[in-house]
Amino acid sequence: MRRADTIAKLRRARARMTGSVGLVPTMGYLHAGHLALVARARAENVHVAASIFVNPAQFGPTEDYAHYPRDLPRDLRLLRGAGVDLLFTPAAADLYPPGFTTWVNVEGLDSQLEGKSRPGHFRGVATVVLKLFNLVQPTRAYFGQKDGQQVAVLKRMAQDLDCPVKLVLVPTVREADGLALSSRNVFLTPPQRAGAAVLYRALQEARRLYAAGERSGERLRQAMRAVVQEEPLGALDYASVADLATLQEQETVRGPVMASLAVRFGKTRLIDNILLGA
Ligand code: PAJ
Repeated sequence: MRRADTIAKLRRARARMTGSVGLVPTMGYLHAGHLALVARARAENVHVAASIFVNPAQFGPTEDYAHYPRDLPRDLRLLRGAGVDLLFTPAAADLYPPGFTTWVNVEGLDSQLEGKSRPGHFRGVATVVLKLFNLVQPTRAYFGQKDGQQVAVLKRMAQDLDCPVKLVLVPTVREADGLALSSRNVFLTPPQRAGAAVLYRALQEARRLYAAGERSGERLRQAMRAVVQEEPLGALDYASVADLATLQEQETVRGPVMASLAVRFGKTRLIDNILLGA
């Protein structure tokens, strides 16, 4: 595995690659969810590139940028073992040099759900991912369904800005009790960790009702809220049943929708989603 810690080195290493390139963008502190993306990229491309960059632009001023978990030596071992050929680990000053002022706003999609609690978050995500696309010029780029709104935002961006890359979605990897793997799970105390399974239980309740024929968006949202309210350590931020592409809340579920929720456990905010009717 070659490691490029500057844009110049990345461009040189990329120029030597011929054939398809799969890109897996990450913020590091890797877990089996990230590695599922790498495995899929490895299976589908001649070369696999990954990036580790804790992107300051997608963190709000009161968020956990400084405390985001980091363990580069372990990440290097995992990515080497997973067959990554090229790892990009830029410094923030390299991607955002003095004078940087161009941002990607995926209007409408960036202001709902996560966007309401995290203004500016998707501007940061879309901007850094477009930069990674421009730098790595991948054939395919791999993203987890775990971050469902991120997927909707990036698909829209790639379509609107004619990015010559195929976005590939990888299903959410979960713990035995259903909790979606996340780098932020390390912040949970043992009781919070046990309680965090409530997100998946709420999503499963929505799935059960949907399978039984329920098509009222509000009743599905209400059912998820009711499950989360049973967990004393969790504070619900939102429960949503929204169109996959527009992320608009649905009155009546017709096409495929994303059921999603965000729940706070102390300072740690967890998100999860499932697709219904997809
Ligand atoms: P990060 O949270 O590190 O996630 C990197 C990728 O791994 C994302 O596509 C995410 O959806 C996926 N992922 C995380 N947990 C997963 C799980 N349990 N199962 C499957 N996939 C999972 O998402 C980001 O970083 C950043 O916003 C980024 C796209 C790198 C831009 O900075």
